[in-house]
Amino acid sequence: MKIALGSDHAGFKLKEALKGFLISKDFKVLDEGTYSEDSVDYPDFAKKVANDIKSKNADFGILICGTGIGMSIAANRIKGIRAALCWFPEMARLARLHNDANVLVLPGRLISSELAQWITEVFLSERFEGGRHEKRVKKIEEMDK
Ligand code: RB5
Repeated sequence: MKIALGSDHAGFKLKEALKGFLISKDFKVLDEGTYSEDSVDYPDFAKKVANDIKSKNADFGILICGTGIGMSIAANRIKGIRAALCWFPEMARLARLHNDANVLVLPGRLISSELAQWITEVFLSERFEGGRHEKRVKKIEEMDK
């Protein structure tokens, strides 16, 4: 499974930690930057990762900024993207089961690397339940038209 990773300066350290974690778990990683703690604009990285998912260049995306809010707002502007800001593992579980989220967004300034790894592991191991949730996700897709 291939994961596209992106962060701004506020999420850089956590992105680097998660990259190592994902590689150690045998995921393929596409690191879309940023590559240092120099100040950058989060929408640039949200766009790159969202487009990787849209073009099927990666299976899932992970985006990190300070709060996760900016990345969520930006990624969800791209058609077909369902980006979920999660700061607890149960949110990640339900984001997959109920919302079929394809991008996990993490708040780099607000959670530890250990908690981020736990959330990531849950997000990448759960599957969309479908059923009653399918028609709700389809209603969101209709909004793209
Ligand atoms: C950068 O200072 C910060 O605004 C950004 O990382 C993010 O939290 C925006 O939503």
